[in-house]
Amino acid sequence: MSNYHIKHLEEYFQVYRKSVRDPEAFWEEIAEEHFSWRKKWDRVLRWDFSKPEVAWFEGARLNITENCLDRHLATQGEKTAILFEPNDPGEQAQHITYRQLHERVCRMANVLKEQGISKGDRVCIYLPMIPELAVAVLACARLGAIHSVVFAGFSSNALATRINDCQCKMVITSDGSIRGSKTLDLKAIVDAALESCPGVERVLLVKRTGGEVTLVPGRDTWLQPLLDGASPACEAEVMDAEDPLFILYTSGSTGKPKGMVHTCGGYMVYTAYTFKNIFQYRDGDVYWCTADIGWITGHSYIVYGPLANGATTVLFEGVPTYPDHGRFWKVVEKHRVTQFYTAPTAIRALARESLEYVEQYDLSSLKVLGSVGEPINEEAWHWYNNNVGKGKSPIVDTWWQTETGGIMISPIPFVTPTTPTYATLPFIGVQPALMDDEGNEIKGNQVSGRLCIKFPWPSMARTIWGDHQRYHDTYFSTFKNNYFTGDGALRDAVGYYRITGRVDDVIIVSGHNLGTAPIEDSINEHPAVAESAIVGFPHEIKGNALYGFVILKETGEGRDRENLRREINQQITEQIGPIAKLDKIQFVPGLPKTRSGKIMRRILRKIACRDTADLGDISTLLNPEVVQEIMDESL
Ligand code: WT7
Repeated sequence: MSNYHIKHLEEYFQVYRKSVRDPEAFWEEIAEEHFSWRKKWDRVLRWDFSKPEVAWFEGARLNITENCLDRHLATQGEKTAILFEPNDPGEQAQHITYRQLHERVCRMANVLKEQGISKGDRVCIYLPMIPELAVAVLACARLGAIHSVVFAGFSSNALATRINDCQCKMVITSDGSIRGSKTLDLKAIVDAALESCPGVERVLLVKRTGGEVTLVPGRDTWLQPLLDGASPACEAEVMDAEDPLFILYTSGSTGKPKGMVHTCGGYMVYTAYTFKNIFQYRDGDVYWCTADIGWITGHSYIVYGPLANGATTVLFEGVPTYPDHGRFWKVVEKHRVTQFYTAPTAIRALARESLEYVEQYDLSSLKVLGSVGEPINEEAWHWYNNNVGKGKSPIVDTWWQTETGGIMISPIPFVTPTTPTYATLPFIGVQPALMDDEGNEIKGNQVSGRLCIKFPWPSMARTIWGDHQRYHDTYFSTFKNNYFTGDGALRDAVGYYRITGRVDDVIIVSGHNLGTAPIEDSINEHPAVAESAIVGFPHEIKGNALYGFVILKETGEGRDRENLRREINQQITEQIGPIAKLDKIQFVPGLPKTRSGKIMRRILRKIACRDTADLGDISTLLNPEVVQEIMDESL
């Protein structure tokens, strides 16, 4: 049982060295000791980044749902697998045991089978955060059907593009969704999407809102009666380790979304192993990741990673601000949550509000806090640490991507000493490299460059659905024999990594390379500032100058704007240098964000450059209305 659960720093270094010295022996041991396989592999790893081609555990046979469900039945069938917390705090939470989840997955798999789905078919899942979403994901995996979950907030256009790209035969959706005080008519969105999706034969409907829907005869069916009539047992399809498990779309900087393909064996091993260590999960813990299963974070760290470890994973339907800004903390208290994993954007939003929302709840159950999705700025880090973790729960700032499948750079709590804004050390088996513009690796510490990974890890995406050439060009052509992440990073004196942001967000001012993240950090530390984003705009002398979009806290709103501008620049000058001072500072009511909470700098850049004739598609933004407001006030 060695190496599965890292408990102190020396052990981390020792296991890390082993994982790099002989990756095959290392991963073979992990795979062998902690998972159930129908047949073991013929070969642990075959790879060639120039093609690129990567195969882990080739020849092995398994079904991931047997690892996530069946094998727990004998020892912990009555343990809660999924703890469902509905949007409405007055609605009862549901504790779904491993035995019940197993049965629900089997019934759903049998229904899918009856409806014509078999191994290799693509099934689109467009559901809100309700148990049926996890059940549908696992039911597909049970049959070897490839799930493509589309976040149930995407428009009908975005949905149709994703359905057509991988030719889904079926869509599983619901009448609607309820998030906060808003309901969304998902079925109507699906109907609109399907007008341009001739390949979809069946739509299965979960009832959630009770809203009116029109069923298209021969295509649409309510799911529940079918589930009631289905057998509660379903033999799992035996899959090849390298068979696709799912497709998940991620937006590229250009072009249509990329359908990242993840496979069964390596993905299972890596998500389970990272989950165990990065959240220090122990029996009896209640783990909560607030992401949506529509994103990779939800796939890997709500569904597969936790369930493969027999953990209790909270599935939350609502939003952090409903019925008030204390909801997260109320749920932590209610379910005695031990690990809490969220995004910096949520933390910043909650940090703007009164501390009473946090302080009225008992958060003493918390042991580990997590952050993911973007660099966490220093102020948000301290707020999270002081007010949520009370200084005793380590924050794991986890850096990874849809493409990487699992967490790549992160502290291990109680093992790796943390530093605000640093993702710290590579996880076991991960071999990062920093590259200069000429494509050479920059060795040593106190350096910065473009972040690459130079050796395969088990959960890496294997291709882009239907476009292997694009997979090659996007990730493997910039730096020879390396996977290029698109991020910039620095490695400090002790070898800790700090992700400085997407490389395309770098702004060159008077020949100096400025990452947006550290400047935004500095602005955000001003007591009157809630959040900010900076972009470059053309400047006669400097080449580029900086334009800052700044959201004020309520307490800052009454203050003199010119004074505030001076103070912000003074602060940047002190913390980074005069070179990073902003030429323009616009106070804005909000920032355009993607549904996953990332600031759309592309739009801000156009506004700053007064090039707003074509802003591109803004319909998939979380808050498209804010764009016009920013444009109206632009400087
Ligand atoms: C990009 C990937 C991984 C799940 C959520 C996002 C940024 C992610 C961090 C972090 C700094 C981060 C990177 C990365 N990012 N986590 N802890 N610190 N940056 O998945 O949508 O595929 O986005 O998110 O820029 O490349 P994604």
